Amino acid sequence: MDIQVVEDVSLNLEAIPQHIAVIMDGNGRWAKKRNQPRVFGHKQGVLALKRTLIACKDLGIKYLSVYAFSTENWSRPEKEVGFLMTLFKSMLKKEVNDLDSNGVKIKFCGDLQGLDKGLRDQIDKAEEKTKNNSVLQLNVMLNYGARNEILRACQSVVHDVQSGQIADISKIDDDLFSSYLDTAGCPEPELLIRTSNESRISNYLLWQLSYSELFFIDCLWPDFDKKQLISVLKDYQKRNRRFGGLHA
Ligand code: IPE
Ligand code: IPE
Ligand code: MG
Repeated sequence: MDIQVVEDVSLNLEAIPQHIAVIMDGNGRWAKKRNQPRVFGHKQGVLALKRTLIACKDLGIKYLSVYAFSTENWSRPEKEVGFLMTLFKSMLKKEVNDLDSNGVKIKFCGDLQGLDKGLRDQIDKAEEKTKNNSVLQLNVMLNYGARNEILRACQSVVHDVQSGQIADISKIDDDLFSSYLDTAGCPEPELLIRTSNESRISNYLLWQLSYSELFFIDCLWPDFDKKQLISVLKDYQKRNRRFGGLHA
């Protein structure tokens, strides 16, 4: 068995998942604990994402999907939303070369038409620049809601039925439908990690998480690091995934 000691924890490298989904939650509370404005937590959250990306790359994880802004997050104060949009834009501009040189393919999922033009331009550039990279795919869920994603997929399917591209509706199965989702081409996440001790899905990847292992951990997102990731992976490796079958 291929065992590697990573920061004093043994991990079975043969059982490393391909795809990890993360709900990066708790930035506001992290800042509040330090008597700082919520946006300070969002800035620290970017650093946690960079750490996590490097850790995933080191461990050989091929897909990382992160929830950055939900379709429901527009209901936050205008100032916080504005700060987040500016942060996404500036980070993307600043980090794209580094992501590219690390072999990261970046893909944005969500209702991107609902974002401002400047941000969409940055997104297009980053996706185009990194599209042939294959070390790791980073899916950033931005203006993302799973219900919205499923509805958009349904609209596209109906469109293709009407145009005759789908000639026989009995051919619409799981695989075909998945190919209409924003995550088309990605395997389903083996596990979901949500930080900040909230035990809910908050409209994230409702289709794709059908059989994922769920981990709700105490740590606030800005504190998340490789050690936390490894601890979750160790737990994941102990789980028995049955997919409706019987105990192994
Ligand atoms: C997650 O942290 C980041 C976003 C939703 C953009 P929060 O901002 O939700 O932080 P808490 O949950 O209020 O602490
Ligand atoms: C989920 O976190 C969305 C993101 C992390 C981007 P929220 O903080 O918005 O979720 P709720 O409101 O606690 O369910
Ligand atoms: Mg939150």
